Amino acid sequence: MSRFDLTSIQSGLRTYIIGKSTANEFWDEIGSTNDRAIELAGESAEEGLLVIAAKQSGGRGRQGKVWVSPQDSGIFLSIILRPTLDAAQMPLLSLAAGAAAASAIESVCGLRIGLKWVNDLVFENKKLGGILVEMPGMQQTGQKRDGWILPPAAVLGIGINLDLAPEQIPAELQNRICSLDQITGKKVDANSLIAEFLNCIEEYYNHLRHGLEESVLIDWKAYCRTLGKRIRASLGNETIEGLAENVLDSGALVLRLDSGESRLLHAGEISIRLEDGTYA
Ligand code: BTN
Repeated sequence: MSRFDLTSIQSGLRTYIIGKSTANEFWDEIGSTNDRAIELAGESAEEGLLVIAAKQSGGRGRQGKVWVSPQDSGIFLSIILRPTLDAAQMPLLSLAAGAAAASAIESVCGLRIGLKWVNDLVFENKKLGGILVEMPGMQQTGQKRDGWILPPAAVLGIGINLDLAPEQIPAELQNRICSLDQITGKKVDANSLIAEFLNCIEEYYNHLRHGLEESVLIDWKAYCRTLGKRIRASLGNETIEGLAENVLDSGALVLRLDSGESRLLHAGEISIRLEDGTYA
């Protein structure tokens, strides 16, 4: 029997939009929940619709990476949003999802995790989850539903490791990944965790829609494990190092180089310098 149950997820919801669709989908196996959500968005699917899977055969991470997604090893979830936000607010959707995941894990599992810019969920310097927000394209403007013109969709995908066995983790990622069951020493209630994540993300989404970016950033920074640390970032062929000084309202990371110059990072992967001088 699968670890996931849409009815029990829905019974834990306090939301008005997210997860409330009667067309939510649960798949025993799918290529990628983000791909399926993008497909549904292209067919005028409503805001808040969820796609959840127990297994992904083609799970995708940021920067074209594979997201390892064996059966019942994690939460693989995508939400269709139709944000009428300013373009400048869009990066904050991803930060809002990170803060929502951290807050939900804290309430349901009693575990305080961290967030690594731009949006990794981390515990003791190991990756516990990640977020992939995709804008499927402006061709969607003009889509109609029930006589209304729909705003273009953003698909918010999240993966949280629940129970990944070492043999399921690729060699290059061994010792760099962790899972909630193993950290907490018990089988996490995945349905309650998903419901709480959806409750939190709707709250942050409403903050953004009401221009309250600051409240999303304050909560994101409370979980952030990047600020104040020395970090290394790859920008094309160039590798730069410096102090992670701030995250701006735009979601960009301010990096203070040793030369005193400050650089803004808008996307990409960073490594954080650990106490032993290595970078993770
Ligand atoms: C990252 O950290 O690189 C982002 C990982 C996002 C993975 C999730 S799992 C559910 C959804 N479907 C996908 O194919 N990817 C996202």
